[in-house]
Amino acid sequence: MSWNRFTKHYLSLPELDFALDISRINFDEAFLAEMEPRIQKAYVAMSKLEAGAIANPDEGRMVGHYWLRAPELAPETALTKDIQDCLDQIKRIAADVHSGALKGAAGAFKNLLVIGIGGSALGPQFVADALGCPKADKLKLFFFDNTDPNGLDRTLTALDGKLGETLSVVISKSGGTPETRNGMLEAESAYKAAGLDFGKHAIAITGDGSKLHQYSKAGNWLDFLPMWDWVGGRTSELAAVGLFPAAIQGLDIDRMLSGAAAMDAATRTTQTEKNPAALLALMWYHATDGIGAKDMVVLPYKDRLMLFSKYLQQLVMESLGKEFDLDGKKVNQGIAVYGNKGSTDQHAYVQQLREGVHNFFVTFIEVLKDRDGASIEVEDGTTSGDFLQGFFLGTRDALYENGRQSITITINEVTPEAVGQLIALFERAVGLYASLVNINAYHQPGVEAGKKAAATVLDLEQKVIDAVKTSDSPLTAPQIAANLGLDKQTELVFKLLLRLAANDRGILSSSSETLTGISFSSAK
Ligand code: PA5
Repeated sequence: MSWNRFTKHYLSLPELDFALDISRINFDEAFLAEMEPRIQKAYVAMSKLEAGAIANPDEGRMVGHYWLRAPELAPETALTKDIQDCLDQIKRIAADVHSGALKGAAGAFKNLLVIGIGGSALGPQFVADALGCPKADKLKLFFFDNTDPNGLDRTLTALDGKLGETLSVVISKSGGTPETRNGMLEAESAYKAAGLDFGKHAIAITGDGSKLHQYSKAGNWLDFLPMWDWVGGRTSELAAVGLFPAAIQGLDIDRMLSGAAAMDAATRTTQTEKNPAALLALMWYHATDGIGAKDMVVLPYKDRLMLFSKYLQQLVMESLGKEFDLDGKKVNQGIAVYGNKGSTDQHAYVQQLREGVHNFFVTFIEVLKDRDGASIEVEDGTTSGDFLQGFFLGTRDALYENGRQSITITINEVTPEAVGQLIALFERAVGLYASLVNINAYHQPGVEAGKKAAATVLDLEQKVIDAVKTSDSPLTAPQIAANLGLDKQTELVFKLLLRLAANDRGILSSSSETLTGISFSSAK
């Protein structure tokens, strides 16, 4: 990389301890000039969004995550007050938990079980891992983020004998997400089995009046924190969804918010060359031809940022992965995101990045500070941190020499401010990119469709169970499907039966050499 190109395309924001290097994306001045009117249009859309426009037209909602870190910018004073009140409430509950004023049946809370999924889990997981420290954390965090019974048991085993000192927070914006509802019921049942009242150990974060809210009220839960319809799930890390678990863990949520606010301020400029979110969006556009032609590999060279790629995967893919644009034209947009951490990934898939199919660009994240305190020398004059940087710089150069492009973000240290900044940076980059490709970044019809599809399958499962249990003789999957008038769904019927038979659900299967020969009967 020439020094001239590097210095020209290295945006340093010293007041934020942040820098963005886009020199390794092969754009030229003509690209920037051509895109300038489009990014200016995106700024206008973004400022309307921040002013309270219905920026999520399908759901008829405002999109207000930027107000969470600057409540005074909310378009109505009532919203400003709601945000501030919620923050006060979070801090009050956290202080009561930490002082022991709010405690469980077995004494002061030592653990927090976070029950949520998607946008109601990925942010809290990322932040807990990025900023947590076993010695300093005030409570230890555990997560239920799925409806996998074995996964739930694994977490419950870790909490065995400790539920009386475990606070549970059930997080669901809609308050009706099945995985979260199941996690809540499983947790409630575990508390009950331990002779404990779940409600006396539980807090809900959800929409006012949602099913979860009603359930928490009926069960006299400890408290309720609001999740507003103008905050999207995947942009809710700096709402109660993310701030509550972080505050309970003992993290400095004011510093996270101030980092995000500072990045918001820095990314409101309409001077593109000084706006890191706009530059990111433009580089994504260039690298992927504006159609998601290449995947984004996120490679932070810092263990604490390992979950950032997972967090970004949802933020980017759920926001940008859309079938139709805002004019109703079929576009099948999106940018695939994956990653983990360097240099670990150099011993996994980086081999393919260097030499294999060229279908990606990389976003490196470099953290300048190695650790608190001094490092030993692992070789003469060389530390472990020197190696980490050596692997990062060496890999980046090797990729570039082989025509593989990359973006590099540099931060000083993984602090609460830096985490807030990274979240705010990518939230805005996603919003600006969505404008460039004319899609609604703030709805998720595919997620809703997935929920409906699962409900249909569960409905069918009940019919299949009834069909087996009311039959006097064993039946094969094709016979059951035919009896139910579901010949075209024989495979689905078979898959349901196979799992039921493996799970002590009152259905037995016979062995047979052919799938068609396997019969199912009632265990009674
Ligand atoms: O970003 C989103 O909107 C989704 O990923 C949701 O966060 C996810 O589906 C969970 O929804 P809820 O918080 O309503 O339980």
